[in-house]
Amino acid sequence: MRNIIVINGPNLNLLGEREPEVYGTMTLPELEAAVTSFASAMDVGVRLFQSNHEGSIIDFIQENRHWAEGVVLNSGALTHYSYALRDVISAVKLPAIEVHLSNIHQREEFRRRSVIKEVCAKQIFGLGLRGYFHAIEYLVGLDVVKQLQRVGKEQILTKAVALLKARYPKYTWVGIYLAEGEDLVLHNFLGKPSPHTRIPIGKGICGAAASAKQSIIVPDVNADARYLACSIETQSEIVVPIMKGARVLGEVDIDSDQKEAFHDGDQEILERCAAIIAEVMPS
Ligand code: SME
Repeated sequence: MRNIIVINGPNLNLLGEREPEVYGTMTLPELEAAVTSFASAMDVGVRLFQSNHEGSIIDFIQENRHWAEGVVLNSGALTHYSYALRDVISAVKLPAIEVHLSNIHQREEFRRRSVIKEVCAKQIFGLGLRGYFHAIEYLVGLDVVKQLQRVGKEQILTKAVALLKARYPKYTWVGIYLAEGEDLVLHNFLGKPSPHTRIPIGKGICGAAASAKQSIIVPDVNADARYLACSIETQSEIVVPIMKGARVLGEVDIDSDQKEAFHDGDQEILERCAAIIAEVMPS
């Protein structure tokens, strides 16, 4: 994922002025500058576009279909009725993320239905500017998933860690633990060495995720009694089990130096990575 287009539809040029209680006080140029700098920190190039006209948005998507590898689209009210927009998204075959600043499910009835949702890889709403950041991260994640699908079983564990560490600046420590009897044993990692190379299932966040057979996001590790410290800089953590049927083969463990670094998008992408790893791992 080297290049993406970020499109804002009708009336988003009035951001900061239009219903600030719903849309906030940030202006469109401010939003676009923040999106560009977030993307560039992830090594992603951006072309921005805003239009109040359905056809202009369609033209822009078509014109950029060979340059862009993904689309972030806040199509405003067009979301709810533009089949032409839906058609262009499926026609160009680029992964698209539908973004809304406000929570479209807590407003008027007509805003609950999106005619583009089905052709988008994900719908994000109610997070304001952060929604655009999550969308960019998700597009990068889809690319990681695609690359991992091409890796052979000998390299899958090292490649998974390398790809995730390289593509997400917020992932400070990325490692894979494998289940060995009643323990999780650190197999490979990138980041500072961890003292926790063997963790009993049931201990720490890692052990809790293995016992529960479920992903765990810890927004603030200092507020979680289960947390086993790897580095004093760590602020948040996500652990995603690698499952084959009901068996835990291991897990992907990621630390961040940022508080609340992980969200549902990280979890979805990492669960897809874990599924790819599980598929090629011997049971
Ligand atoms: N924090 C983990 C231990 C592993 S280190 O983060 C690498 C836990 O609480 O299980």
